[in-house]
Amino acid sequence: RKPVTLHRLLDMHAQGDKIAMLTCYDAAFATLQDEAGVDVLLVGDSLGNVIQGETTTVPVSLESMVYHTRCVARGRKHAWIVADLPFDSYHGSIEEAWKSAAALFKAGAHMVKLEGGGWTAPVVRFLVERGIPVCAHLGLTPQTVTMLGGFKVQGRDDAAAVLLKRHALELAQAGAQMLVLEMVPAALAAELTQTLNIPVIGIGAGAECSGQVLVMHDMLNVTPGRRPRFVKNFMAGSVSVQDAIARYVLEVKAKTFPQNDIHSY
Ligand code: KIV
Ligand code: NA
Repeated sequence: RKPVTLHRLLDMHAQGDKIAMLTCYDAAFATLQDEAGVDVLLVGDSLGNVIQGETTTVPVSLESMVYHTRCVARGRKHAWIVADLPFDSYHGSIEEAWKSAAALFKAGAHMVKLEGGGWTAPVVRFLVERGIPVCAHLGLTPQTVTMLGGFKVQGRDDAAAVLLKRHALELAQAGAQMLVLEMVPAALAAELTQTLNIPVIGIGAGAECSGQVLVMHDMLNVTPGRRPRFVKNFMAGSVSVQDAIARYVLEVKAKTFPQNDIHSY
């Protein structure tokens, strides 16, 4: 296996080869996921919820993100590493965004991810021009869940769908080379995947995206409490964690996960 590159990910999108992405927060799981064939390891700020026990991702510090990115980078062999810019690390100014992104990049991330629409486009352009690849994140953006009024499907009505599409185009034009779409109707995600020439990675965004992402603890059925409908328990019927993650990769590649009638909106 060759290391996953940006070129390879863009090619997979163009060819319709599905990209399997999972969240990852430490070295042991980085090696395990890598060996199971996961293409992209996401050091998500969801570590605030699953590792730190917070109720939102808002309190997660840049220092925590750097720490976990370094852990994942040490365990990774072939996969592409995306690390989240946490809340309050790219909001105040472009200089602040650069410092934050550079810290994650130096810790071993290949790409940084940030949440939000048009207002982030100048930040995206600034980082990309200086050599840090960027993944955008639209739809349900957990850092702004207070403003959104809860974990609800986004882009449902026509006006919201038009706005989301406009933001996606603006971010792609600013140089974003990947887009995560969270909790948006499957039809809208399918349209954007067709329109954009960058990979669109869905979570609760239907089966037609270029790839899929889940929080690892959710798909391993480790997270306590109620799970969103887009999560599938891959431990059910698996003999080991390795087996569950390999099955996730297989099902994403074979387009048997997600199913639009079960896991989508
Ligand atoms: O932090 C995270 O896990 C994420 C995914 C849900 C896309 O941003
Ligand atoms: Na995140």
